Amino acid sequence: MCGIIGIVGAAPVTDRLIDSLKRLEYRGYDSAGVAAVVDGHVERRRAKGKIRALEAVLDQEPLVGTVGIGHTRWATHGAPAERNAHPHRAGRVTLVHNGIIENYAELREELKAKGHTFESDTDTEVIAHLLDHTLDSGLEPLAALKATLDRLTGAYALGILIDGEDELVMGARRGSPLVVGHGQGEMFIGSDALAVGPFTNRITYLDEGDYVAIDHRGARIFDAAGAPVTRPERIVSAAAALVEKGNYRHFMEKEIHDQPDACQHTLSAYVDAVNAATVSPGVDFTKVDRLQIVACGTASYAGMIARYLFERLADLPCEVEIASEFRYRQPALAPGALALAVSQSGETADTLAALRWCKTRGIQTAALVNNHESTMAREADVLFPTHAGPEIGVASTKAFTSQVAALTAIAVSAARQRGRIDAHEEARLASILLETPRLIAQAIATEETVRQIAGDIAKARDVLYLGRGAMFPLALEGALKLKEISYIHAEGYAAGELKHGPIALVDEATPIIVIAPTDELFDKTASNMSEVIARGGRIVLITDEAGAAHAPEGARVIVAPACDPVIAPLVFAAPIQLLAYYVAVQKGADVDQPRNLAKSVTVE
Ligand code: AGP
Repeated sequence: MCGIIGIVGAAPVTDRLIDSLKRLEYRGYDSAGVAAVVDGHVERRRAKGKIRALEAVLDQEPLVGTVGIGHTRWATHGAPAERNAHPHRAGRVTLVHNGIIENYAELREELKAKGHTFESDTDTEVIAHLLDHTLDSGLEPLAALKATLDRLTGAYALGILIDGEDELVMGARRGSPLVVGHGQGEMFIGSDALAVGPFTNRITYLDEGDYVAIDHRGARIFDAAGAPVTRPERIVSAAAALVEKGNYRHFMEKEIHDQPDACQHTLSAYVDAVNAATVSPGVDFTKVDRLQIVACGTASYAGMIARYLFERLADLPCEVEIASEFRYRQPALAPGALALAVSQSGETADTLAALRWCKTRGIQTAALVNNHESTMAREADVLFPTHAGPEIGVASTKAFTSQVAALTAIAVSAARQRGRIDAHEEARLASILLETPRLIAQAIATEETVRQIAGDIAKARDVLYLGRGAMFPLALEGALKLKEISYIHAEGYAAGELKHGPIALVDEATPIIVIAPTDELFDKTASNMSEVIARGGRIVLITDEAGAAHAPEGARVIVAPACDPVIAPLVFAAPIQLLAYYVAVQKGADVDQPRNLAKSVTVE
């Protein structure tokens, strides 16, 4: 999952390529590169590391041309190094790629046998050689591209320059997203609307298998069979361009603070505040007999939280499965099932594959996504949007709470449709949901206490998170958040599981974060805290005021606002995110771009 951009411009493009790559850095940041047509031939500049390293290279060796391509990389084949950075070059071809070519090894052997010499360890370089080889047979660039694509197995989004074709950028997509941007006498291709956001809001989304040629006259698009096709042009929302940090140090910090607004916007699509009722999300839940949620990472924890609500409120059997397992398990789904993909990006390869698997078997599909123009949004039968706005920090925060907010409202709507709650109860739950933004804001106000506690946690080697009921997935989420941005080993457990193994890990060096609002399970979690204390464990208790009164001696306490259990995961998420954030800051970690990760995982 890398980011790509291509521009056929009316003015020099290097600065704009860099601007776009900065917007795409959330997709990967191991290395970066740009290429442009300079005096009739293509030149490139590449650097290991983030875009700022590439900028330093460009300061030394400027690149001035009006047609160019750019790439920011998340390594799959070949270590992060300049020689593996894109654009890759072979003969007349210079290209950038997002995806994985599965048959690259056999193509590489074939091309080596024909005299091609490879300079990188990447799968991508083989595409450049194959295209160059095909051009040698005398085909025109587009015909050569089609012949090349026909030989590739795997996923790709491509941006291509050809020596001697000074005003042409070609692109292609299969399994990885690619958009075309239409400017004033200028044309663009990019991984998503954010990439071309500063230049145009007129976007065409390419379909699977499409390839395209852009020049000053516009775009010529062809389907996988090589037939010219017209794909609709859309105007994308200005939100796509909103990727500024404002006065915050990190995007993650900003996005944690954005949550009251993000939840408010999201809830406004699902809750009718005037009539205190839910808005039908476009699915007839009386005809659904099972809900199958598929997702990855944080989105899967949002799904796990939702399972408690769909089963408890709507009496609807609900399964949640990690998409990478689901897609290969041959699950038995009956026609009455609704498959729901949960994803911030709407592009996660495993989740998308799971969604498609369900679709091809005639199962009704829905996608709960934050990127409304994404592949999942376009392919699912029903779209459940979240309105968190662009999330840039790799660690998901406002997208997660917006997912949970939307899923909670949808569960209430399903409960009403299925006759499990009456209008009075629906109104009560709708009013509770509408309180969420205010309560999240109050929970964020624990920031200073959390920051102080973080100093202690930052010294730990291992951290355990415990929770019961819907706080269990939140414990998993807390552990994931800490792991991914502070590199501290952390595990989340159902508090009742502690005595079945994890209690062996308890010692004075291992902080135990307990998430326990006062609810019907609080006393049980209190017993688990006693078991920890009896073994010398150190507890950080995240609770409300009533729970704080029962905190075990010696525990450090973070007091979040009291709230109804239905929205407790939303309210208690903030202190957990802040804890991970401040631990990472204490450790001097790269909060927004943690090592080895990328925001959008569009490869398996
Ligand atoms: C969360 O902090 C993550 N970085 C990651 O687990 C993420 O939630 C996952 O990759 C799924 O992404 P998606 O929501 O875009 O599908």
